[in-house]
Amino acid sequence: GNKITNICCIGAGYVGGPTMAVIAAKCPHIKVTIVDLNVARIAAWNDENLDNLPVYEPGLAEIVSQARGRNLFFTTEVEKAIDEAQMIFISVNTPTKTYGLGKGKAADLKYIELCARQIAAVSKNDKIVVEKSTLPVRTAEAVRSILDNTGNGVKFQILSNPEFLAEGTAVEDLLSPDRVLIGGDTDEEGQAAIKALADVYAEWIPRERILTTNVWSSELSKLTANAFLAQRVSSINAMSELCEKTGADVNEVARAIGMDSRIGPKFLKASVGFGGSCFQKDILNLVYIAKSYGLNEVADYWEQVVIMNDHQKVRFAAKIVKTLYNTVSGKKIAFLGWAFKKDTNDTRESAAIQVADELLYEQANIAVFDPKVEEDKIQADLNYLDTRTKEENAKLATAFQDPYEACKDAHAIAVLTEWDEFKEYDWQRIYDNMKKPAFVFDGRAILDGKKLTDIGFVFHVIGK
Ligand code: NAD
Ligand code: UDX
Repeated sequence: GNKITNICCIGAGYVGGPTMAVIAAKCPHIKVTIVDLNVARIAAWNDENLDNLPVYEPGLAEIVSQARGRNLFFTTEVEKAIDEAQMIFISVNTPTKTYGLGKGKAADLKYIELCARQIAAVSKNDKIVVEKSTLPVRTAEAVRSILDNTGNGVKFQILSNPEFLAEGTAVEDLLSPDRVLIGGDTDEEGQAAIKALADVYAEWIPRERILTTNVWSSELSKLTANAFLAQRVSSINAMSELCEKTGADVNEVARAIGMDSRIGPKFLKASVGFGGSCFQKDILNLVYIAKSYGLNEVADYWEQVVIMNDHQKVRFAAKIVKTLYNTVSGKKIAFLGWAFKKDTNDTRESAAIQVADELLYEQANIAVFDPKVEEDKIQADLNYLDTRTKEENAKLATAFQDPYEACKDAHAIAVLTEWDEFKEYDWQRIYDNMKKPAFVFDGRAILDGKKLTDIGFVFHVIGK
């Protein structure tokens, strides 16, 4: 068979970087080269100072330092890496289209197509091409069509190998995944390609957790998994609003239903809304695909998960405004957290962005503290919304290096991310330095409400 000794990965992002670092660490006999067009990103992956890696994940720096320069390489020399590899992972971004047909819903596949064309142009021998990016079902067909029409006689096998890691726990998830999914052609060559990739994972993952399917099932399983997970969050968030009206406590409800083994306890944490680069994008993509087959009920069913999530973010902001006597104009509101979840520096689609936008419409001053997110990213996130000028965003929203400074003289604090350190703060000190009444809006239900109320805070929490 074909034993893989040389892998190339196109795309050195949140998925490509960690997944390939783990493959390299676990498979010292495989040379793994990660390529990207983004020169600054590659430089950051090669930085001597591991604090400067472009992706923050617990445990990642150790894995990178173990393999980097031994059998793990980061480079911008895309063509050379493709040429030398037997197996090429495509791990580029597949954002929601911002233009043309399917704008705001469909996945933008231009980066995928560019990769396929480049692989086709460069390859001089047979290769296995692995879709690692999350793609619409039947994308492999388009990739195949591009690869097979180059006329240079090279044979390509196309596999789908979606990634299920969650940010903040990427290394843990990669070291011991619930399952690895590999989709490939059902003929003999397809099965050989599947085996070649399964053998790589089998270096550290038990065989029974390596699942193989046809290509279409694999592609669709990824969208389905994210839709189900996001749906659980929207379901509990829908209940959180009802809890706030009825005297029920959403955490108690979550515990009660989670003990039903058919429901299970995970992913039932009410919040200010899910964020991240995947859930919304993948559901909208699913909605678009369903509609394109005329399946309107299927599309509407899943779209409601995103509608509910938007509502949750908007209603959190509205509650702040309403509680602060219907005006936040000129008031300092401190945000604890900007990342879309704890233990990551990623802010894509973070609930904090939309909540901030709503409050900026009301002319609030926003003071942000996040342990891992810097000012320039916060400004870029706000500017990307294109709802006001750069200058206005810079004037109204400020990032702080110190949480106590961020909260000083604030009328209210809003918890947007569930960072553990927020629980350990000196809340008496924070209280003493705030305007009174001092409000806290806990969008993650992580703070001790009794303790805060005893100090004197007016405490509001999602779902209670
Ligand atoms: P990302 O934006 O962090 O990284 C993608 C990288 O690809 C960028 O650095 C970009 O410069 C590079 N790139 C784009 N086109 C290129 C080209 N033609 N040649 C070389 N480099 C190119 O994205 P990500 O978060 O790593 O996501 C990648 C894919 O994985 C997406 O399809 C996403 O849906 C999927 N995914 C993401 C997660 C997650 O948690 N972020 C989890 C599972 C799956
Ligand atoms: C998700 C999927 O979990 C992962 O399998 C897939 O590969 C990529 O998309 P990620 O977005 O990194 O991972 O993080 P996840 O832990 O799923 O959280 C997504 C969002 O939902 C976060 O904003 C999180 O705070 C929120 N969330 C999650 C809740 O509000 N409540 C929960 O109970 C769980």
